[in-house]
Amino acid sequence: MRIASGRAPSKLILLGEHAVVYGHPAFAVPLAVPGAEAQLAGADRCEPVVVHLEDFKIRWEFGLPEPAGELLPFSRLISSFLKSNPKTPKTGWRLSIRSRIPIGCGLGSGAAVATAALRALDEAFGVERSPKSLSDEIYKTEKILHGTPSGIDNTVIAIGRPVLFRKGKEFESVPAPNSPLHLVVGDTGIRHQTVEVVSDVRNARKAAAGRYDSIFAEIGEITLKGVQAFKKGAGRTLGKAMNENQGRLAAIGVSSREIDALISAALDVGALGAKLCGAGRGGCVAALAESSEGAERVKEAFKAAGAKTAFVTGILGQDIEACARS
Ligand code: MEV
Repeated sequence: MRIASGRAPSKLILLGEHAVVYGHPAFAVPLAVPGAEAQLAGADRCEPVVVHLEDFKIRWEFGLPEPAGELLPFSRLISSFLKSNPKTPKTGWRLSIRSRIPIGCGLGSGAAVATAALRALDEAFGVERSPKSLSDEIYKTEKILHGTPSGIDNTVIAIGRPVLFRKGKEFESVPAPNSPLHLVVGDTGIRHQTVEVVSDVRNARKAAAGRYDSIFAEIGEITLKGVQAFKKGAGRTLGKAMNENQGRLAAIGVSSREIDALISAALDVGALGAKLCGAGRGGCVAALAESSEGAERVKEAFKAAGAKTAFVTGILGQDIEACARS
């Protein structure tokens, strides 16, 4: 065993959430900031394996009854790791996990912390793993947190590149344009439970299947149009697609007063597009700005409109100065 660390990015669904649950395409990007980090270090050989979630100030010892809440995905992740890699020592190491990704707001914090943890485990115990296998393992933890998620979060976070995703199908990796995308995220400060919002949408669809299905189909078309614009670096067209997508998300009842306030604030100061990201009914709003100066304006507008936090970011791997200032 060697001391090891693992990292993973947060993500934004730029287009297509909710419709993706019903088989339509969605487009997600990994973010340059914020991210999650895990450290695996040795301990006395007699000591049990310990998992420490630093943000929650909680720890769990392997061998104790299965924990509930935030620790459950990690205890399952470690049990599954030990089962698949039986030579791994069952004592004498500790895993510490830290994340700067706000929780329950559409940035994929659950998938990111689990990905960082598994990367640290793999490195420490010399396990070679394909990105697909990483994504599949993280999907198991996502099911603990979110019921039956589409799988978009674990895919984009494990792959670490923009992806066009369709549930149950091979994802398509989408090359990022040469010119950086200036993204701004504003957090309404209202936590949502993805599983509840998805279930509300499912129930509403049962009562009006025709209407909901045609909205989902429109979202799918908007997503494909937006991805073409993304590939060409056509910010205005991509921003327009985000706005059109937001209109459909409002129509299925997953926007909110707080989300609408942040979106208006961003558009008022010149954002090319803005929409909720993730399940909605709170969580974060993502806006696309034309330049780094424009992104700073949107960030300030988010704060003035009541965002709990707001930050400028970009796509993981794209060189944007703005990230350093977030
Ligand atoms: C949540 O991040 C995105 C949803 O589309 C649910 C899912 O894809 O599982 C709302």
